[in-house]
Amino acid sequence: MAHSIFRSTLYPLLSTLTSATVAMSAIGPAQARPALDVPYIKTPDAVVDRMLEMGGVGPEDILTDLGSGDGRIPIAAAVKHGTRGLGVDLDPARTEEARAGAQQAGVEKLVTFRTENLFDTDLSEATVITMYLFPEINLRLRPELLKLKPGTRIVSHAFHMDDWTPERHDVVDHNDIFMWTVPAKVAGLWRVTVPGHRDFVLRIWQQFDRVQATATTVDEHSIPAIEMKLKGPEIHYTLNTEEGALTYKGTVSGSEIRGTSSVGEWKAEKM
Ligand SMILES: C[S@@+](CC[C@H](N)C(=O)[O-])C[C@H]1O[C@@H](n2cnc3c(N)ncnc32)[C@H](O)[C@@H]1O
Repeated sequence: MAHSIFRSTLYPLLSTLTSATVAMSAIGPAQARPALDVPYIKTPDAVVDRMLEMGGVGPEDILTDLGSGDGRIPIAAAVKHGTRGLGVDLDPARTEEARAGAQQAGVEKLVTFRTENLFDTDLSEATVITMYLFPEINLRLRPELLKLKPGTRIVSHAFHMDDWTPERHDVVDHNDIFMWTVPAKVAGLWRVTVPGHRDFVLRIWQQFDRVQATATTVDEHSIPAIEMKLKGPEIHYTLNTEEGALTYKGTVSGSEIRGTSSVGEWKAEKM
């Protein structure tokens, strides 16, 4: 398995990087191309299709491809799903190619291509980010990706992000694809109120989308929250009480959570 991963994903990128470095030193400063962090390798069409499917892209989304090459990912998203998109690439030749591709596919009104360093790209409007970069670039981007709107999907061809375990991993023609959803920030103390019931304090521990919690009432009675799950802004947990197993579902919005439970509507405020 390790052998097939190396051949299918690392090897094409790494071997091209070596030849690109040689080619750049051979052509000299006059014709120097931008110093790329990742060489240009195209994602196969079948992999693009699966990436878009895993990202759940649709007409409401705004997709940003970081290091967009010939623009195939934003162009396919626009053609097949009506998605608006942005592609950025450091190499102006790629930007030209991508703009021509968008024109040819008739989606130039839906997609924009810019010559830009992906580390300078404003990602705040994106609802889906795609990338085919290098592991260390993914890790450099990770803190910025985690600041994006909860629910933003990230889909990476070939490389994962270490201990941020992907929500989904697929393999298409020996190409690994990984998908994450940006989780809401929920770590800390929350005062939970359910009309007609005693308030309690929910203490949540969080690492990426992995969450655990305890619920404590004013008289210091404390129980674990069972099966707490966090996906984007959506949170879900169960409390085993004298009234039975009470399930809470809610949506995190900054310092507030609102939702429904087995005992009625509930709300939580960050303490
Ligand atoms: C492996 S290719 C992926 C192309 C395309 N996204 C695809 O999947 O087919 C990586 C791309 O990133 C671009 N790139 C490398 N370093 C970059 C940087 N710092 N900022 C923007 N683009 C960069 C390269 O020019 C190349 O087109």
